[in-house]
Amino acid sequence: MAEKHFRKPLSFVRRSNRLKPSYQRTWDAALGRELLDVPHGDRDTSVAEGFSIDWRAEYGRIAPLILEIGSGSGEAVAAAAAANPETDFLAVEVYRPGAAQLAARLRREGLTNVRIACLDAVEVMDKLLPDNILSELWVFFPDPWHKSKHKKRRLIQTSFAEKATRVLAPTGVWRLATDWSDYAVQMREIIGSSSTFRNPHVGQRAGEHSPLTKVRMGDLDAASLGKETHPMPLEEALDTEGGWAPRFAARVATDFEQKALHAGRMIFDLSFIRRPS
Ligand SMILES: C[S@@+](CC[C@H](N)C(=O)[O-])C[C@H]1O[C@@H](n2cnc3c(N)ncnc32)[C@H](O)[C@@H]1O
Repeated sequence: MAEKHFRKPLSFVRRSNRLKPSYQRTWDAALGRELLDVPHGDRDTSVAEGFSIDWRAEYGRIAPLILEIGSGSGEAVAAAAAANPETDFLAVEVYRPGAAQLAARLRREGLTNVRIACLDAVEVMDKLLPDNILSELWVFFPDPWHKSKHKKRRLIQTSFAEKATRVLAPTGVWRLATDWSDYAVQMREIIGSSSTFRNPHVGQRAGEHSPLTKVRMGDLDAASLGKETHPMPLEEALDTEGGWAPRFAARVATDFEQKALHAGRMIFDLSFIRRPS
């Protein structure tokens, strides 16, 4: 009997992916420069088997490398790249208009320390990144997939943490942010329970100061969706574990974050250190 192959569900759905003419021109000019020209596999977001990139030659130097997954229109990575010219950045984003917008900004601002991969980050990690190459990994506001039937699409899963372990250098930092409390808890549990990562903020922002306590007390996530709310009394809502990081100073407030705040959701920052093996 033919063997069945079950694929993990993708963490994204590509909707309108067409480029307006000005972005198409930027795309064409940036391809093979800021925008990596990668042969596709069976999907246009996958990487052809056997293709590889010599990262040292690509950036023309040896420097710390930071990967941002799901960079959107690149607000965070562009600001960080401008502030840290001695560091190289790789922005991975499946949404073509977002990648084009970042390419346009890099060209406008003359930033040479960023490359963009308009590809599935899982493919980039598996096929293009060697062991220990990253000094930092950033995942800011990954798609929340907050409906129960969609949660399997969430990027942060045990299998993804294993990929992060491989590509992050020992003592490298994994930074995350989300505006959905149950995704924040999922991140804290999955990465926090991994033997390869250490949470430097264990026990911090617990109790009444925890953003999770505040969300539970007001049922803020449900409220932000206009759903019926079920606020919890303080003793039930209390997040005794904490472990939340302070806001990462280099993380600029993107439009996405502003909308979340406007809708009444709390922001959770997390960071983890890759243990030396
Ligand atoms: C909610 S948006 C956040 C964008 C940005 N980080 C911000 O804070 O504004 C999540 C982004 O992740 C991208 N994304 C989701 N899964 C991805 C994957 N597997 N590889 C690359 N990008 C992905 C989506 O296309 C989307 O632009």
